[in-house]
Amino acid sequence: MFITLEGPEGSGKTSHIPYLVEYLREKGYIVFPTREPGGTSIGEQIREVIHDLKNVEMHARTETLLYQAARAQIVEQVIQPRLADGAIVISDRYFDSTIAYQGYGHQQDLEQVRALVKYATGGLMPDLTILLDVDVEVGLKRKKKDNEWNRLDGYTVEFHQRVRAGYLEMVKQEPARWVVVDANREWNEVQAGLRRVILERLQQS
Ligand code: TMP
Repeated sequence: MFITLEGPEGSGKTSHIPYLVEYLREKGYIVFPTREPGGTSIGEQIREVIHDLKNVEMHARTETLLYQAARAQIVEQVIQPRLADGAIVISDRYFDSTIAYQGYGHQQDLEQVRALVKYATGGLMPDLTILLDVDVEVGLKRKKKDNEWNRLDGYTVEFHQRVRAGYLEMVKQEPARWVVVDANREWNEVQAGLRRVILERLQQS
């Protein structure tokens, strides 16, 4: 099973994943966590370039393509082989981030962005995608406090509001794949919600 976690800035995905992995491993599942952009040596190098605060001149199309390059690598080098071995792969972001940020956020042509994403992933779709939904202002405040500020976080609040609205639109378009978990709540409640959603889906499969 391929599970992806998505969300606007400061939704807490990254802090939840290690605890989800531990919980599922205790239940006997083979679980492999990964993240985007990154998760491979090439991907981590690309991540540095995209997120570097000094790369202010980066065009939205350049940004879009760099994410796809990192993605193509992780799909081939990591995700596909682990899935073929029977592991549950949990990814901190996947192609829906490109639709949300580069598509809705930068207001680029959604059909063109979708075509690029399909090329990068070779068509590999997640079985389950969880949206950790958080108010934009709450999320950005959290990120600033945690000292994890990257170049994209500096985009306008309106950009981040378009990203969040984009995610909610995607949930509406594909309700069978998406589950929304309210990430405005206390960390423990969010973690419990995530565990419930994933376990339920695993037990159905
Ligand atoms: P994160 O590690 O805080 O989730 O940072 C990843 C950043 O990259 C976040 O600002 C969202 C952004 N991003 C995109 O804009 N498009 C993408 O396709 C991916 C994977 C991430």
